[in-house]
Amino acid sequence: KQHPEAPEGGFQFAGAMGTWDIAQLQRGYQVYKEVCAACHSLNYVAFRNLEQLGYSEAQVKAEAATWTVPGINPDTGEAATRPGLPTDSFPSPYPNAIAAAAANNNAIPPDLSLITKAREDGSNYVYSLLSGYDDPQTFTNEAGEVFAETAPDYVPGVGLHFNPYFSNINLAMAPPLVVDNQVTYSDGTSATVEQMSADVAAFLTWTAEPSMIARKQTGWWVLAFTLFATILAWFAKKQVWSGVK
Ligand code: HEM
Repeated sequence: KQHPEAPEGGFQFAGAMGTWDIAQLQRGYQVYKEVCAACHSLNYVAFRNLEQLGYSEAQVKAEAATWTVPGINPDTGEAATRPGLPTDSFPSPYPNAIAAAAANNNAIPPDLSLITKAREDGSNYVYSLLSGYDDPQTFTNEAGEVFAETAPDYVPGVGLHFNPYFSNINLAMAPPLVVDNQVTYSDGTSATVEQMSADVAAFLTWTAEPSMIARKQTGWWVLAFTLFATILAWFAKKQVWSGVK
C-alpha cells in the first residue's frame, strides 16, 4: 500500500493558513456530478449546502431540480422519483445495497460524504487513488520466478482493478477518471486526470468538513487571546505580589 501523495502545488486548504479555493470546489462538484454520482451518494450533504460554494438560493433550487431523488407517489403511496429540492441530499443512484452490489462486482460504492475523514490523509488519498491506477508491477526473485504485485483474483478491466494506494491493492471500482477533458470546465481550467482528481478530492474534503477553514481561523484568534490573557496574568501577578519582599 503506497503512501498517498499531494497533488502538484498542494491543496490550498492545507496548512494552518489554508483557505478554500472556491473555483476548485465548484469544479470538483462538477466532477462529482458528472462522474462519481453515477455510483456514489453524498447522504450527509444537501443541495442547499452548495450555497457555501458561491451559488445563490435560486441557482441551488434550479441545480437541485436537475437531480432525481427517491420519493413517494402521493396518490398510490408507492415508491417513485421526483426532482430534487434544496433540502434533499445527494442521492444514491441505486434503490438499495443489493442493487448497488449487483452492479459493481459485489462491492457497494461507499457514500462519499465523509470519505476524506474515514481514510488516513484522506484528501491526498482520494487524489492519489483516482490518479494512481496502474498495471501491477512484476518483479523477479533470485530463482528467476516472476511475481506480480497483486492478489491472484485480479482481473484487469473486468472485475478488480490494481491500485497501489488501495488498502487491498485490488478494488472493484474501475478507474473513473481515464481521459483528459472527461469533463468540460467552464472556467477554462485544463481538465487533466490529475486536475480532475485534485478538484474532486478538494470537493470531498469540503463535504466532509465544510467548517474546516472557519475552524483554522478560529484557532488563530484562540492563540491571540491566550497570549493576551497570559500577558494580563503576568502583570496581575506582579501587581498582587508587589508588596511582598
Ligand atoms: C470505492 C471515489 C466513481 C464504484 C470508492 C472509494 C472512493 C471512491 C474514495 C473508496 C475507496 C476506499 O474504500 O478506500 C470515487 C470518486 C469517483 C468515483 C471520487 C468519481 C471521480 C465511481 C464510479 C463507480 C464507482 C463511476 C461505478 C461505476 C465504486 C465501487 C467502490 C468504490 C464499487 C468500492 C470498491 C471496493 O471496495 O472494492 N470510490 N469513485 N466509483 N467506487 Fe468510486
